[in-house]
Amino acid sequence: ASTTATSVSISGDISSQLHGGYFHPLARTWQAERQLTKSMLIYPLFITDGDDDMILVPSLPGQHQLSVSRLTSFLEPLVHKGLRSVILFGVPMKAGTKDALGTAADDPEGPVIQAIRLIRRRFPQLYICTDVCLCEYTSHGHCGILRDDGSLNNQLSVDRISDVAVAYAKAGAHCVAPSDMNDGRIRAIKLKLIEEGIAHKTTLMSYSAKFSGCLYGPFREAAGSAPSFGDRKCYQLPPSGRGLARRAIIRDVGEGADILMVKPAGQYLDIISDAKELAKDLPIAAYQVSGEYSMIYAAAKAGVFDLKAMAFESTESILRAGATIVVSYFTPQFLDWLDN
Ligand code: PBG
Ligand code: ZN
Repeated sequence: ASTTATSVSISGDISSQLHGGYFHPLARTWQAERQLTKSMLIYPLFITDGDDDMILVPSLPGQHQLSVSRLTSFLEPLVHKGLRSVILFGVPMKAGTKDALGTAADDPEGPVIQAIRLIRRRFPQLYICTDVCLCEYTSHGHCGILRDDGSLNNQLSVDRISDVAVAYAKAGAHCVAPSDMNDGRIRAIKLKLIEEGIAHKTTLMSYSAKFSGCLYGPFREAAGSAPSFGDRKCYQLPPSGRGLARRAIIRDVGEGADILMVKPAGQYLDIISDAKELAKDLPIAAYQVSGEYSMIYAAAKAGVFDLKAMAFESTESILRAGATIVVSYFTPQFLDWLDN
């Protein structure tokens, strides 16, 4: 019989023919193990102690520092569009708030606890995560309490950070997420939550594999949390330290973490995939951090690619690697984009 010319003969190998599986846009979405949905997204918010702040952060395009008084009107349209979760960061700006111990972190009148109470009241369906760290509240800007030589005092830091986590949970946070990287803080927080009788209703999300590096700059501008001396290389993981990340992940599972986070995301997709393999039974979160977000913005502005296309491509890569939760500054845009 006469046939039109094809590159495959009927009797030959047909395993080379893949296009049929993804010709149609719907069939392309079926190729994903998991598809991006609104419920996967957690939106970071920077909450100040000011009276009426809504300040754009120059290095973090489109993101604001907000005072508690602005939260309701800011969140209303987002919740209406399907926002399910936020993660709160406190930004104390008033002079004299910071000290060596980060005393202001769990101030009941401070921005985080006030924001938790307000959101619980005004948006009862919204799931509230709180970043737990001291760097926004310490005079030296490090993520714990320091020894005289400037290195971390692990025991004092863990004691303090677990107190702060419990204070946020008691104020109504659904999830506490320690980002400090002190050894043993997951266990200490879990034990205190149990002691307080709130472990059963508080998710403990560990920033397990948090790497040091240059991608947190815009965040530190937004949160006012840059260290006043030195860097974080002795507690955040070295970028090449895949084995250390695996050990931290295994450790935090053993210490009682409910969710593990990998951070940054895009440069650490292998670590996300390791986390998925090592902690098969836990949800894996990834934080597309400030530097990743701002890089995408800058490149889009320079005409390298379309912003929306890269927002999707980068986020879908994070899901492909194994995450099912993404902390993303693109969340407000995704709430629009995912409707179409
Ligand atoms: C605080 C904290 C940081 C981030 C999340 N929690 C900054 C840091 O460790 O210096 C970074 C988030 C981002 O860059 O978007 N420990
Ligand atoms: Zn910190």
